[in-house]
Amino acid sequence: MRIFSGIQPTGRKHLGNYIGAIRQYVAGQERGEALYCIVDLHAITVAYDPVELRERLLDTTAILLAAGLDPQRCVLFRQSDVAAHTELCWLLSSVTALGELSRMHQFRDKSSAQRELVSAGLLFYPVLQAADVLAYRAEEVPVGEDQREHLELMREIARRFNARFGETLVVPRHRIPEVGARIMDLQHPETKMSTTGTSEEGTVYVLDPPQAIEKKFRRAVTDSGTDIRRAPDKPGVSNLVEILAVARQRTPEEIEGELAGAGYGQLKSVAAEAVVGLLSPVRERYEQLRSDERALEQTLSEGARQARELAAPTLAEVRERMGVGGRHGPG
Ligand code: TYM
Repeated sequence: MRIFSGIQPTGRKHLGNYIGAIRQYVAGQERGEALYCIVDLHAITVAYDPVELRERLLDTTAILLAAGLDPQRCVLFRQSDVAAHTELCWLLSSVTALGELSRMHQFRDKSSAQRELVSAGLLFYPVLQAADVLAYRAEEVPVGEDQREHLELMREIARRFNARFGETLVVPRHRIPEVGARIMDLQHPETKMSTTGTSEEGTVYVLDPPQAIEKKFRRAVTDSGTDIRRAPDKPGVSNLVEILAVARQRTPEEIEGELAGAGYGQLKSVAAEAVVGLLSPVRERYEQLRSDERALEQTLSEGARQARELAAPTLAEVRERMGVGGRHGPG
């Protein structure tokens, strides 16, 4: 089975990225042929600094390797190194409805947050994301809950292409984890943890040192009452229970059972301890890996070489089906 996922090189990776996505990427290496792409072309759809983008890309590469991605067992690459993504994006735009793009939640949120320019790239974002996956005919896409809508659109684009031009593309399915698909901000548990928008104190970064993690959990907002159980009116406690469950590899029900009768203070301190245990080894390996930029670049370029080979047959078939280009390929 082929697995594909993408991650942005922007900002600092947080516990939501780690729990919702990165740990699934690591598991994916055991379950199939896995490709993971750091999507710098998606990152340029909002205001950004070019020098910083390169740095953040290497940060993200080192975090993924530190978390357990193994270039011997997966293909790890930079999106802009494989031209098939942008070419397929354009080709797929002809079977994508403008109305669908303008209704996407992410487009609405991000475009209203832009002060200066709402780029056309922001509108096209989901088409590029569809191209990322469809170029490899991937069957499964591990993501967090916030990507559900983009995955639905991707499936629709693949189906529409196949209906119009004949069976060519694989319609992929998402893999959203049952627990931890939407980790919430510790200060504002009604909003998801994210690199933009939420609070710095409520966002636990993968590279935070243990004291910072402990402090953020100590100050986490809980709810009224004393019960440790998940409930719609207890977003703070529910979030901590889910985080703890994932960090300890237990079910949320087991955590609720274990902590029955304990106070919120104890819930916070055990959650902090478990998250420190989860992230510390990643931070330590990151420190070792990040300084060797040549090695990181080497890994990415080897990944891109493999990715180009895997995408080429799909692109050739799509061009052929659509009647663009010469009969015997480009040139
Ligand atoms: P990005 O970089 O914003 O997020 C990377 C992954 O982290 C997940 N995630 C979360 N999971 C749980 N709780 C949270 N609070 C949380 N915040 C983020 C996201 O769901 C995602 O899986 N558009 C994508 C990148 C992308 C992509 C792709 C993904 C580009 N092409 C192709 C899959 C397939 C994005 O911005 O992810």
